[in-house]
Amino acid sequence: MDHFLYRDGNLHAEDVPLAQIAAQVGTPFYCYCAATLTRHFRLFDEALAGVDHLVCYAMKANSNLAVLKLMGDLGAGVDVVSGGEYRKARAAGIPGERIVFSGVGKTREEMHLALSGGIRQFNVESEPEMEALNEVALSLGVVAPITVRVNPDVDAKTHEKIATGKSENKFGIPIARARAVYAHAATLRGLAVVGIDVHIGSQLTELAPFEQAYAKVAELTRALRADGHTITRLDLGGGLGIPYERANTAPPLPVEYGQMVQRTLGDLGCEIEIEPGRLIAGNAGVLVSQVIYVKQGEGRDFLILDAAMNDLVRPAMYGAHHDIVPLVEPAPGVEQVPYDVVGPVCESGDTFAKARMMPPVGPGDLVAFRSAGAYGAVMASEYNTRPLVPEVLVSGDHFAVIRARPSFDEIINRDTIPEWL
Ligand code: LLP
Repeated sequence: MDHFLYRDGNLHAEDVPLAQIAAQVGTPFYCYCAATLTRHFRLFDEALAGVDHLVCYAMKANSNLAVLKLMGDLGAGVDVVSGGEYRKARAAGIPGERIVFSGVGKTREEMHLALSGGIRQFNVESEPEMEALNEVALSLGVVAPITVRVNPDVDAKTHEKIATGKSENKFGIPIARARAVYAHAATLRGLAVVGIDVHIGSQLTELAPFEQAYAKVAELTRALRADGHTITRLDLGGGLGIPYERANTAPPLPVEYGQMVQRTLGDLGCEIEIEPGRLIAGNAGVLVSQVIYVKQGEGRDFLILDAAMNDLVRPAMYGAHHDIVPLVEPAPGVEQVPYDVVGPVCESGDTFAKARMMPPVGPGDLVAFRSAGAYGAVMASEYNTRPLVPEVLVSGDHFAVIRARPSFDEIINRDTIPEWL
Protein backbone atom coordinates (compact mmCIF):
# COMPACT_ATOMS: atom_id res chain seq x y z
CA MET A 1 0.00 0.00 0.00
CA ASP A 2 1.16 3.53 -0.68
CA HIS A 3 -0.13 7.05 -0.30
CA PHE A 4 -0.37 8.06 -3.98
CA LEU A 5 -4.09 8.09 -4.68
CA TYR A 6 -6.48 9.94 -6.96
CA ARG A 7 -8.62 12.41 -5.06
CA ASP A 8 -11.05 14.77 -6.77
CA GLY A 9 -9.65 13.53 -10.08
CA ASN A 10 -6.01 14.37 -9.30
CA LEU A 11 -3.16 12.16 -8.17
CA HIS A 12 -2.09 13.14 -4.66
CA ALA A 13 0.93 12.38 -2.53
CA GLU A 14 -0.78 12.05 0.85
CA ASP A 15 -2.85 15.28 0.99
CA VAL A 16 -0.89 17.24 -1.62
CA PRO A 17 -1.83 17.23 -5.33
CA LEU A 18 1.28 16.30 -7.31
CA ALA A 19 0.34 18.91 -9.92
CA GLN A 20 0.71 21.59 -7.25
CA ILE A 21 4.27 20.45 -6.52
CA ALA A 22 4.98 20.35 -10.27
CA ALA A 23 3.80 23.96 -10.60
CA GLN A 24 6.20 25.08 -7.86
CA VAL A 25 9.20 22.84 -8.45
CA GLY A 26 9.04 22.16 -12.18
CA THR A 27 9.36 18.75 -13.82
CA PRO A 28 10.81 16.19 -13.67
CA PHE A 29 10.97 15.64 -9.90
CA TYR A 30 10.94 12.76 -7.45
CA CYS A 31 8.34 12.84 -4.71
CA TYR A 32 8.31 10.67 -1.58
CA CYS A 33 5.60 10.14 1.03
CA ALA A 34 6.74 10.17 4.66
CA ALA A 35 3.66 8.14 5.61
CA THR A 36 4.62 5.29 3.25
CA LEU A 37 8.25 5.26 4.33
CA THR A 38 7.11 5.10 7.95
CA ARG A 39 4.53 2.42 7.27
CA HIS A 40 7.01 0.20 5.45
CA PHE A 41 9.64 0.47 8.17
CA ARG A 42 7.03 -0.41 10.80
CA LEU A 43 5.81 -3.42 8.80
CA PHE A 44 9.28 -4.95 9.03
CA ASP A 45 9.76 -3.91 12.64
CA GLU A 46 6.45 -5.50 13.62
CA ALA A 47 7.09 -8.60 11.50
CA LEU A 48 10.09 -9.36 13.73
CA ALA A 49 8.46 -8.29 16.99
CA GLY A 50 8.80 -11.83 18.37
CA VAL A 51 12.62 -11.75 18.33
CA ASP A 52 15.39 -9.39 19.33
CA HIS A 53 16.03 -7.50 16.07
CA LEU A 54 17.19 -4.38 14.27
CA VAL A 55 15.89 -3.24 10.89
CA CYS A 56 18.92 -1.74 9.11
CA TYR A 57 17.54 0.27 6.18
CA ALA A 58 19.71 -0.33 3.08
CA MET A 59 20.34 3.31 2.30
CA LYS A 60 21.67 2.57 -1.18
CA ALA A 61 17.99 2.43 -2.19
CA ASN A 62 17.39 6.07 -1.32
CA SER A 63 20.00 8.00 0.60
CA ASN A 64 18.48 11.45 0.79
CA LEU A 65 19.39 12.98 4.15
CA ALA A 66 15.73 13.68 4.98
CA VAL A 67 14.78 10.06 4.30
CA LEU A 68 17.63 8.92 6.53
CA LYS A 69 16.59 11.31 9.31
CA LEU A 70 13.05 9.96 9.12
CA MET A 71 14.34 6.38 9.32
CA GLY A 72 16.68 7.19 12.18
CA ASP A 73 13.89 8.85 14.16
CA LEU A 74 11.81 5.69 13.76
CA GLY A 75 14.63 3.73 15.38
CA ALA A 76 16.04 2.18 12.24
CA GLY A 77 19.64 1.19 11.82
CA VAL A 78 21.24 1.49 8.38
CA ASP A 79 23.24 -0.71 6.07
CA VAL A 80 26.01 1.30 4.40
CA VAL A 81 28.30 0.24 1.56
CA SER A 82 30.75 3.12 1.28
CA GLY A 83 32.50 5.78 3.29
CA GLY A 84 30.16 8.28 1.65
CA GLU A 85 27.09 6.42 2.90
CA TYR A 86 28.63 6.12 6.36
CA ARG A 87 29.22 9.88 6.49
CA LYS A 88 25.72 10.60 5.26
CA ALA A 89 24.14 8.27 7.83
CA ARG A 90 26.07 9.98 10.59
CA ALA A 91 25.15 13.42 9.22
CA ALA A 92 21.49 12.36 9.44
CA GLY A 93 22.00 11.58 13.12
CA ILE A 94 22.20 7.78 12.99
CA PRO A 95 24.54 6.58 15.74
CA GLY A 96 27.45 4.31 14.87
CA GLU A 97 26.04 1.46 16.95
CA ARG A 98 23.14 1.25 14.51
CA ILE A 99 25.28 1.15 11.35
CA VAL A 100 26.35 -2.07 9.62
CA PHE A 101 28.98 -1.85 6.89
CA SER A 102 28.53 -4.15 3.87
CA GLY A 103 30.32 -4.39 0.51
CA VAL A 104 32.97 -6.46 -1.24
CA GLY A 105 35.59 -3.75 -1.58
CA LYS A 106 35.85 -1.75 1.63
CA THR A 107 39.07 0.25 1.62
CA ARG A 108 41.34 0.76 4.60
CA GLU A 109 40.31 4.41 4.66
CA GLU A 110 36.66 3.39 4.95
CA MET A 111 37.50 0.91 7.72
CA HIS A 112 39.43 3.61 9.55
CA LEU A 113 36.52 6.04 9.22
CA ALA A 114 33.94 3.61 10.59
CA LEU A 115 36.16 2.22 13.35
CA SER A 116 36.99 5.65 14.65
CA GLY A 117 33.45 7.00 14.23
CA GLY A 118 31.65 4.00 15.69
CA ILE A 119 30.19 0.95 13.99
CA ARG A 120 27.86 -1.89 14.90
CA GLN A 121 29.62 -4.44 12.72
CA PHE A 122 31.45 -5.00 9.46
CA ASN A 123 30.03 -7.66 7.18
CA VAL A 124 33.32 -9.05 5.89
CA GLU A 125 33.28 -10.60 2.42
CA SER A 126 36.73 -12.14 1.96
CA GLU A 127 39.88 -13.21 3.75
CA PRO A 128 42.02 -10.38 2.34
CA GLU A 129 39.41 -7.94 3.67
CA MET A 130 39.52 -9.68 7.05
CA GLU A 131 43.31 -9.27 7.20
CA ALA A 132 43.09 -5.61 6.23
CA LEU A 133 40.39 -4.87 8.82
CA ASN A 134 42.43 -6.64 11.48
CA GLU A 135 45.44 -4.45 10.69
CA VAL A 136 43.43 -1.23 10.71
CA ALA A 137 41.76 -2.17 14.01
CA LEU A 138 45.10 -3.04 15.63
CA SER A 139 46.64 0.22 14.42
CA LEU A 140 43.79 2.09 16.13
CA GLY A 141 43.96 -0.08 19.26
CA VAL A 142 40.35 -1.23 18.88
CA VAL A 143 38.56 -4.48 18.14
CA ALA A 144 36.32 -4.61 15.05
CA PRO A 145 33.05 -6.54 15.45
CA ILE A 146 32.49 -8.70 12.37
CA THR A 147 30.20 -11.12 10.68
CA VAL A 148 31.38 -13.03 7.63
CA ARG A 149 29.11 -12.87 4.63
CA VAL A 150 28.52 -16.37 3.37
CA ASN A 151 27.40 -17.23 -0.12
CA PRO A 152 24.85 -20.03 0.26
CA ASP A 153 24.71 -20.90 -3.45
CA VAL A 154 20.96 -20.56 -3.85
CA ASP A 155 19.11 -19.26 -6.86
CA ALA A 156 17.26 -16.08 -5.86
CA LYS A 157 15.17 -16.29 -9.06
CA THR A 158 15.58 -12.61 -9.81
CA HIS A 159 17.22 -10.48 -12.53
CA GLU A 160 20.79 -11.68 -13.12
CA LYS A 161 22.24 -8.23 -12.40
CA ILE A 162 20.80 -8.17 -8.88
CA ALA A 163 21.21 -11.83 -7.87
CA THR A 164 24.05 -12.22 -5.36
CA GLY A 165 23.71 -15.62 -3.71
CA LYS A 166 24.98 -18.01 -6.39
CA SER A 167 28.51 -19.34 -6.21
CA GLU A 168 29.43 -17.56 -9.46
CA ASN A 169 28.61 -14.14 -7.94
CA LYS A 170 31.36 -11.97 -6.44
CA PHE A 171 29.70 -11.81 -3.02
CA GLY A 172 30.62 -13.48 0.25
CA ILE A 173 32.67 -16.59 0.85
CA PRO A 174 31.44 -20.03 -0.25
CA ILE A 175 29.47 -21.48 2.65
CA ALA A 176 31.48 -24.70 2.37
CA ARG A 177 34.61 -22.73 3.37
CA ALA A 178 32.95 -20.88 6.23
CA ARG A 179 34.29 -22.97 9.10
CA ALA A 180 37.88 -22.53 7.90
CA VAL A 181 37.41 -18.79 7.47
CA TYR A 182 35.88 -18.40 10.95
CA ALA A 183 38.80 -20.39 12.38
CA HIS A 184 41.14 -17.92 10.68
CA ALA A 185 39.14 -14.95 12.00
CA ALA A 186 39.43 -16.29 15.54
CA THR A 187 43.24 -16.00 15.33
CA LEU A 188 43.12 -12.28 14.50
CA ARG A 189 43.28 -10.14 17.64
CA GLY A 190 41.82 -7.06 16.00
CA LEU A 191 38.56 -8.81 15.18
CA ALA A 192 35.66 -10.08 17.27
CA VAL A 193 33.31 -12.49 15.52
CA VAL A 194 29.72 -11.69 16.44
CA GLY A 195 27.67 -13.48 13.81
CA ILE A 196 26.93 -14.49 10.23
CA ASP A 197 25.75 -12.39 7.29
CA VAL A 198 23.91 -13.42 4.14
CA HIS A 199 22.21 -11.52 1.30
CA ILE A 200 21.11 -13.43 -1.76
CA GLY A 201 19.72 -10.75 -4.05
CA SER A 202 17.17 -8.06 -4.64
CA GLN A 203 13.56 -7.94 -5.89
CA LEU A 204 12.82 -11.50 -4.77
CA THR A 205 9.19 -12.36 -5.32
CA GLU A 206 9.12 -15.70 -3.47
CA LEU A 207 10.06 -16.73 0.05
CA ALA A 208 11.53 -20.11 -0.91
CA PRO A 209 15.04 -18.88 -1.86
CA PHE A 210 15.30 -16.90 1.39
CA GLU A 211 14.17 -19.93 3.35
CA GLN A 212 16.74 -22.18 1.66
CA ALA A 213 19.50 -19.69 2.44
CA TYR A 214 18.39 -19.15 6.04
CA ALA A 215 18.18 -22.90 6.67
CA LYS A 216 21.83 -23.11 5.62
CA VAL A 217 22.65 -20.22 7.97
CA ALA A 218 20.91 -22.05 10.84
CA GLU A 219 22.98 -25.15 10.17
CA LEU A 220 26.16 -23.09 9.98
CA THR A 221 25.32 -21.34 13.26
CA ARG A 222 25.20 -24.68 15.02
CA ALA A 223 28.42 -25.86 13.42
CA LEU A 224 30.29 -22.66 14.27
CA ARG A 225 29.06 -22.72 17.85
CA ALA A 226 30.26 -26.32 18.13
CA ASP A 227 33.64 -25.06 16.88
CA GLY A 228 33.68 -22.59 19.78
CA HIS A 229 32.68 -19.34 18.04
CA THR A 230 30.30 -16.85 19.55
CA ILE A 231 27.41 -16.39 17.16
CA THR A 232 24.90 -13.96 18.63
CA ARG A 233 23.79 -12.03 15.56
CA LEU A 234 22.44 -13.03 12.18
CA ASP A 235 22.29 -10.42 9.42
CA LEU A 236 19.86 -11.71 6.82
CA GLY A 237 20.32 -8.99 4.18
CA GLY A 238 17.50 -7.39 2.24
CA GLY A 239 15.83 -8.31 -1.00
CA LEU A 240 12.08 -8.62 -0.51
CA GLY A 241 10.48 -7.53 -3.78
CA ILE A 242 7.70 -5.06 -4.51
CA PRO A 243 4.75 -5.23 -6.96
CA TYR A 244 6.09 -3.09 -9.81
CA GLU A 245 3.24 -4.31 -11.99
CA ARG A 246 0.35 -3.80 -9.66
CA ALA A 247 -2.08 -5.62 -11.85
CA ASN A 248 0.01 -8.81 -12.08
CA THR A 249 2.33 -9.31 -9.13
CA ALA A 250 1.90 -9.86 -5.41
CA PRO A 251 5.23 -10.62 -3.71
CA PRO A 252 5.17 -11.96 -0.14
CA LEU A 253 4.40 -9.46 2.60
CA PRO A 254 6.87 -8.45 5.31
CA VAL A 255 4.71 -10.21 7.89
CA GLU A 256 5.02 -13.50 5.95
CA TYR A 257 8.75 -12.95 5.61
CA GLY A 258 8.97 -12.32 9.37
CA GLN A 259 7.10 -15.52 10.16
CA MET A 260 9.42 -17.49 7.90
CA VAL A 261 12.49 -15.93 9.57
CA GLN A 262 11.22 -16.82 13.02
CA ARG A 263 10.30 -20.33 11.91
CA THR A 264 13.74 -20.93 10.35
CA LEU A 265 16.02 -19.14 12.82
CA GLY A 266 13.93 -18.24 15.86
CA ASP A 267 15.18 -21.07 18.10
CA LEU A 268 18.84 -20.02 17.86
CA GLY A 269 18.54 -17.17 20.36
CA CYS A 270 20.30 -14.77 17.99
CA GLU A 271 19.58 -11.12 17.42
CA ILE A 272 18.22 -10.77 13.87
CA GLU A 273 19.23 -7.93 11.55
CA ILE A 274 17.58 -7.34 8.19
CA GLU A 275 18.58 -4.85 5.49
CA PRO A 276 15.51 -3.96 3.43
CA GLY A 277 15.89 -1.09 0.98
CA ARG A 278 13.52 -1.41 -1.95
CA LEU A 279 10.46 -2.44 0.03
CA ILE A 280 10.82 0.55 2.35
CA ALA A 281 11.46 3.23 -0.27
CA GLY A 282 10.23 1.84 -3.62
CA ASN A 283 6.50 2.41 -3.43
CA ALA A 284 7.03 5.48 -1.27
CA GLY A 285 8.18 7.42 -4.33
CA VAL A 286 7.14 8.53 -7.80
CA LEU A 287 8.94 10.34 -10.59
CA VAL A 288 6.73 13.06 -12.09
CA SER A 289 7.37 14.09 -15.66
CA GLN A 290 5.74 16.18 -18.36
CA VAL A 291 4.89 15.11 -21.89
CA ILE A 292 6.87 17.26 -24.33
CA TYR A 293 5.56 15.83 -27.59
CA VAL A 294 3.47 13.00 -28.90
CA LYS A 295 5.15 11.91 -32.10
CA GLN A 296 3.59 9.64 -34.67
CA GLY A 297 5.80 6.72 -35.58
CA GLU A 298 5.42 3.68 -37.84
CA GLY A 299 2.42 1.95 -36.37
CA ARG A 300 2.86 3.47 -32.92
CA ASP A 301 3.01 6.77 -31.12
CA PHE A 302 6.02 7.92 -29.12
CA LEU A 303 5.34 9.69 -25.89
CA ILE A 304 8.35 11.95 -25.49
CA LEU A 305 8.77 12.95 -21.84
CA ASP A 306 11.01 15.47 -20.11
CA ALA A 307 12.36 12.65 -17.90
CA ALA A 308 15.00 10.37 -19.37
CA MET A 309 17.20 7.36 -18.66
CA ASN A 310 19.60 9.57 -16.72
CA ASP A 311 16.81 10.35 -14.23
CA LEU A 312 15.45 6.79 -13.90
CA VAL A 313 17.83 4.23 -15.34
CA ARG A 314 16.09 1.03 -14.21
CA PRO A 315 14.13 0.39 -17.43
CA ALA A 316 17.25 0.91 -19.61
CA MET A 317 19.53 -1.04 -17.28
CA TYR A 318 17.40 -3.98 -16.19
CA GLY A 319 14.44 -3.85 -18.58
CA ALA A 320 12.49 -2.93 -15.45
CA HIS A 321 8.79 -2.14 -15.52
CA HIS A 322 7.37 0.96 -13.84
CA ASP A 323 3.66 1.69 -14.02
CA ILE A 324 3.13 5.09 -15.68
CA VAL A 325 -0.08 6.94 -14.83
CA PRO A 326 -1.47 10.36 -15.74
CA LEU A 327 -1.77 12.89 -12.92
CA VAL A 328 -5.32 13.66 -14.02
CA GLU A 329 -7.50 10.66 -13.30
CA PRO A 330 -8.67 9.04 -16.54
CA ALA A 331 -12.41 8.97 -17.11
CA PRO A 332 -13.90 5.58 -16.23
CA GLY A 333 -13.86 3.17 -19.17
CA VAL A 334 -11.59 5.38 -21.29
CA GLU A 335 -10.02 3.44 -24.15
CA GLN A 336 -6.30 2.83 -23.59
CA VAL A 337 -3.81 3.33 -26.40
CA PRO A 338 -0.29 1.92 -26.91
CA TYR A 339 2.70 4.25 -26.55
CA ASP A 340 6.43 3.84 -26.69
CA VAL A 341 7.38 5.98 -23.71
CA VAL A 342 10.78 7.61 -24.22
CA GLY A 343 12.99 10.42 -22.96
CA PRO A 344 14.95 13.06 -24.87
CA VAL A 345 18.39 11.43 -24.48
CA CYS A 346 20.21 10.63 -27.70
CA GLU A 347 20.19 6.87 -27.66
CA SER A 348 17.51 4.27 -28.26
CA GLY A 349 18.18 2.80 -24.82
CA ASP A 350 16.38 5.85 -23.49
CA THR A 351 13.10 3.97 -23.58
CA PHE A 352 10.93 3.55 -20.50
CA ALA A 353 8.34 1.26 -22.03
CA LYS A 354 7.34 -0.18 -25.40
CA ALA A 355 3.73 -0.48 -26.56
CA ARG A 356 2.57 0.48 -23.09
CA MET A 357 -1.23 0.64 -22.88
CA MET A 358 -2.20 3.95 -21.29
CA PRO A 359 -5.07 6.39 -21.27
CA PRO A 360 -4.45 8.96 -24.04
CA VAL A 361 -2.30 11.93 -22.98
CA GLY A 362 -1.08 14.99 -24.84
CA PRO A 363 1.68 17.60 -24.78
CA GLY A 364 1.87 19.43 -21.46
CA ASP A 365 0.17 16.61 -19.53
CA LEU A 366 1.84 15.27 -16.42
CA VAL A 367 2.53 11.61 -15.71
CA ALA A 368 3.96 9.71 -12.75
CA PHE A 369 6.25 6.70 -12.77
CA ARG A 370 5.21 4.62 -9.81
CA SER A 371 7.49 2.59 -7.55
CA ALA A 372 10.38 4.96 -8.22
CA GLY A 373 11.37 5.74 -4.62
CA ALA A 374 14.11 3.08 -4.52
CA TYR A 375 17.07 2.98 -6.91
CA GLY A 376 15.66 6.01 -8.73
CA ALA A 377 17.24 9.29 -7.65
CA VAL A 378 20.30 7.51 -6.24
CA MET A 379 21.17 6.03 -9.64
CA ALA A 380 20.56 9.24 -11.59
CA SER A 381 23.29 10.99 -13.54
CA GLU A 382 23.74 14.21 -15.47
CA TYR A 383 24.20 12.47 -18.81
CA ASN A 384 23.44 14.87 -21.68
CA THR A 385 24.11 17.69 -19.16
CA ARG A 386 20.65 17.25 -17.77
CA PRO A 387 20.53 18.49 -14.16
CA LEU A 388 19.83 15.91 -11.44
CA VAL A 389 16.11 16.13 -10.76
CA PRO A 390 14.96 17.57 -7.44
CA GLU A 391 13.53 15.45 -4.63
CA VAL A 392 10.48 16.42 -2.61
CA LEU A 393 9.17 14.94 0.64
CA VAL A 394 5.48 15.13 1.49
CA SER A 395 4.05 14.65 4.95
CA GLY A 396 0.31 15.14 5.36
CA ASP A 397 -0.64 18.40 3.70
CA HIS A 398 2.83 19.92 3.45
CA PHE A 399 5.89 19.30 1.36
CA ALA A 400 9.52 20.36 1.19
CA VAL A 401 12.21 20.22 -1.45
CA ILE A 402 14.77 17.89 0.12
CA ARG A 403 17.23 18.23 -2.75
CA ALA A 404 17.09 21.21 -5.06
CA ARG A 405 17.64 21.05 -8.79
CA PRO A 406 21.18 22.31 -9.47
CA SER A 407 21.45 25.42 -11.61
CA PHE A 408 23.23 25.24 -14.95
CA ASP A 409 25.90 27.57 -13.53
CA GLU A 410 26.58 25.06 -10.74
CA ILE A 411 26.91 22.29 -13.29
CA ILE A 412 29.16 24.27 -15.63
CA ASN A 413 31.34 25.61 -12.81
CA ARG A 414 32.02 22.12 -11.46
CA ASP A 415 34.44 21.61 -14.34
CA THR A 416 37.66 23.56 -14.71
CA ILE A 417 39.57 24.49 -17.82
CA PRO A 418 43.35 24.19 -17.20
CA GLU A 419 45.35 27.39 -17.51
CA TRP A 420 47.43 25.94 -20.33
CA LEU A 421 44.43 25.30 -22.57
N1 LLP B 1 21.91 -5.63 1.67
C1 LLP B 1 22.86 -5.79 0.73
C2 LLP B 1 24.16 -6.35 1.13
C3 LLP B 1 22.60 -5.42 -0.60
O1 LLP B 1 23.54 -5.59 -1.52
C4 LLP B 1 21.34 -4.88 -0.95
C5 LLP B 1 21.04 -4.48 -2.33
C6 LLP B 1 20.38 -4.72 0.07
C7 LLP B 1 20.70 -5.12 1.37
C8 LLP B 1 19.03 -4.15 -0.19
O2 LLP B 1 18.27 -4.95 -1.04
P1 LLP B 1 16.74 -4.56 -1.31
O3 LLP B 1 15.97 -4.78 -0.04
O4 LLP B 1 16.71 -3.14 -1.71
O5 LLP B 1 16.33 -5.47 -2.40
N2 LLP B 1 19.86 -1.14 -8.45
C9 LLP B 1 19.09 -2.36 -8.44
C10 LLP B 1 19.08 -3.02 -7.08
C11 LLP B 1 20.43 -3.32 -6.53
C12 LLP B 1 20.42 -3.97 -5.17
C13 LLP B 1 21.80 -4.03 -4.60
N3 LLP B 1 21.89 -4.56 -3.28
C14 LLP B 1 17.70 -2.08 -8.95
O6 LLP B 1 17.39 -0.93 -9.30
O7 LLP B 1 16.88 -3.00 -9.05
